[in-house]
Amino acid sequence: MENKFYPFPTDFWWGSASSATQMEGASTQGGKGENIWDYWFQEEPNRFFNGVGPGNTSNFYEQYKEDISLMKELGHNSFRLSISWSRLIPTGDGEVNEEAVTFYKNVLNEMISQDVEPFVNLYHFDMPMAMQRIGGWESREVVQAYVRYASICFELFGDLASKWFTHNEPVVPVEQQYLYGNHYPAECDFKKAVQAGFHSVLAGAKAVKVFKEKGYKGEIGVILNLTPSYPRSNHPEDLKAGNMADLFFNRSFLDPFVKGEFPSELVDVLKTEGFMPEIQEGDLDIIANNTVDLLGVNYYQPRRVKAKENMPNPNAPFLPERYFDHYEMPGRKMNPYRGWEIYEKGIYDILVNVKENYGNIPCFISENGMGVENEDRFLNSEGQVQDDYRIEFYKNHLKWMHKAIEEGANLKGYHVWTFIDNWSWLNAYKNRYGLISLDLDNGFKRTIKKSGEWYKELSIQNGFYD
Ligand code: BG6
Repeated sequence: MENKFYPFPTDFWWGSASSATQMEGASTQGGKGENIWDYWFQEEPNRFFNGVGPGNTSNFYEQYKEDISLMKELGHNSFRLSISWSRLIPTGDGEVNEEAVTFYKNVLNEMISQDVEPFVNLYHFDMPMAMQRIGGWESREVVQAYVRYASICFELFGDLASKWFTHNEPVVPVEQQYLYGNHYPAECDFKKAVQAGFHSVLAGAKAVKVFKEKGYKGEIGVILNLTPSYPRSNHPEDLKAGNMADLFFNRSFLDPFVKGEFPSELVDVLKTEGFMPEIQEGDLDIIANNTVDLLGVNYYQPRRVKAKENMPNPNAPFLPERYFDHYEMPGRKMNPYRGWEIYEKGIYDILVNVKENYGNIPCFISENGMGVENEDRFLNSEGQVQDDYRIEFYKNHLKWMHKAIEEGANLKGYHVWTFIDNWSWLNAYKNRYGLISLDLDNGFKRTIKKSGEWYKELSIQNGFYD
């Protein structure tokens, strides 16, 4: 039987994504300042999987030319990187580091010369340590410093890039730094989390304002990890639980960045619980008037919830989980190699939601991927990872994206996570995601995986057979 071909729109963006801290390496070289990851690794190396810290990445700082050639070889027409705030401005708010300016200009020029369009993100979890010392996202001063940093980036690199993003997954630093204690300073304080979240949104809107007012070319967007919240049943209490999870983890950032306002239900909860952030006069107008042009959606797995079964302990720290319990749905499909659920239709549900409730803003899938522990077990005798499971994972998500496009979703592209196996925060190299494998023991040797070859065909054919 003939295989079916799934075509994608002309000029669809095919590529992948990574971030400065996760790929550059050279964390103490080239005049780079310290960020929270460099600091924390010095202080508490045991928090990092196998004690591997941010100095030990795929060495893009030295090998960027080779890597950009590999992007070309894999058929990428675009790639997302981030600028390291602490490399460009070592103290976060002081002198610009000229070595960093040269490095990023070289990288962007190299990408352009290889026809790989740079998608440039400004903030990917990497707060300069000097900024964290004065409060990080909790501090209004840091908002100003971030806007200065964004303005400097637009000014220095605005002629080399025309797709900009204010943040990657701004909810993650908020929850991981201030609620669940996984990223430095590892606190659990809902009030601080709300303030940090508000400041991230405000900082993003102020960066959009500068970008628009100064008339830089191209578009500016934000990248959000949207996790559809599926309730256990249609029982009103389960539905309420799903709605609350959606409010805290999705709409808290999606609404202000795309619609220019916070959901009124969220504001009601914050008022009732006494957690309203400090908002200065004019802040809400800035947020209302400076929404993004483009939405990047990171999707890995859904969130499944149910009504709370036990009354929360009033003395326990306040967490969003006060309103719902996590639900391990029987029979859900799991990634056997990383422990996350795989639910491909989630990507379609997100796109339908964006189409129906967010004005069908131009969007793209900015991260989607399958992490695998001990991926060396899938090496063949030639040393190539035979990751058929990952090809299957991509195909199954692409089919749902294809359907969403047929139904009118304004979907512009697909960037997978990630290009070369990269270092990932506390998990370091525990889970491999790359289209290309990295051999840390053999001079950072890069080898294209089977999925990398498949992805190349996908990009060249602008679609795939299945
Ligand atoms: C994404 C982040 O949410 O998850 C990435 O944007 C991260 O920075 C990726 O690397 C994978 O995470 P992990 O923990 O499975 O390595």
